[in-house]
Amino acid sequence: MKRIFSGVQPTGNLHLGNYLGAIRNWVRLQDEFDDCLFCVVDLHAITVWQEPKDLVANIREVAAAMMAAGIDPARNVIFNQSQVSAHAELAWIFNCVARLGWLDRMTQFKEKAGKDKERASVGLYAYPNLMAADILAYKGTHVPVGEDQKQHLELARDIAQKFNHDYGQEFFPVVEPLIFGTATRVMSLRDGWSKMSKSDPADNSRINMTDDADGIARKIKKAKTDSEPLPSEAPGLNGRPEASNLVGIYAALADTDMDGVLGEFGGQGFGAFKPALADLAVAKLSPVQDQMRRLIDDTTYVESVLRCGAEKANDIATPILREVQDLVGFLRP
Ligand code: TYM
Repeated sequence: MKRIFSGVQPTGNLHLGNYLGAIRNWVRLQDEFDDCLFCVVDLHAITVWQEPKDLVANIREVAAAMMAAGIDPARNVIFNQSQVSAHAELAWIFNCVARLGWLDRMTQFKEKAGKDKERASVGLYAYPNLMAADILAYKGTHVPVGEDQKQHLELARDIAQKFNHDYGQEFFPVVEPLIFGTATRVMSLRDGWSKMSKSDPADNSRINMTDDADGIARKIKKAKTDSEPLPSEAPGLNGRPEASNLVGIYAALADTDMDGVLGEFGGQGFGAFKPALADLAVAKLSPVQDQMRRLIDDTTYVESVLRCGAEKANDIATPILREVQDLVGFLRP
């Protein structure tokens, strides 16, 4: 059986990379897979400090963004992680399956902890184990994410395989990452070598899903570029990370590929390309953003979707967790 699981952290500043690299792909997948769970991962969010009143608003905002993008709550399970205790319970078991050496290799921990790793939370270090638990609590088989999550998914595969080996049963599936589209790694608008990220202190580095049309146009106009005109074929973008990023964003928004965009804009400078990109971004994002604003105002509705999603998620995860507890040898009532 195939089952999709994916998640987004409610840490504020949901951006174009999250939309193009993940959420928009989920909208497509809901038509191909009849079993999809999309989770607002609030347990992950608190691995770095979150102001409680912002966190609760951000949980609603991410849920609103998923629905505004087109994920249908009637056909899919939309919920927030802390409402389903199986995530935390299975994560503890995985803390005892995963090896320190595996976690030591995680590049995202190194990036997020920075130089002062002694002061990082234990949760930030164990984060990938919780992520494996998120997926495997449902025996999820396919995980649509952006490129940056690849290493975490490899760890989830290692955990599933070690658990199966240790307890002598092919219990957990070995998860398949689904990384597709032209925007699997959207880069910062200020630096083509670093990823567009929610935590970048420079707001100009990203297009937020809450930015208005003027804000989007202004950020694209200010985006860092080089002084060369655009090439007419994709290999001409090698060594030009900022140009490549903007062309990639255009391609993703227009549902074409890099060569399709360069066929139209090759030979032209950024003076012509940037306004076209801004117009396209506003045209594609504003319907989603309008709907997102409406949903954010309707907290009762959003919370009822999350509650109902959590019930459905619990129904799937509870029997799986019980089997895990039996395999491990816990005594249950
Ligand atoms: P998060 O919240 O950082 O990002 C959510 C999704 O957006 C993708 N993404 C990007 N894609 C393209 N370009 C970018 N610049 C960019 N930035 C982010 C991410 O790859 C992700 O798909 N650990 C996860 C959340 C998580 C999860 C899970 C995902 C927790 N448990 C289980 C899948 C399955 C995270 O921090 O995503």
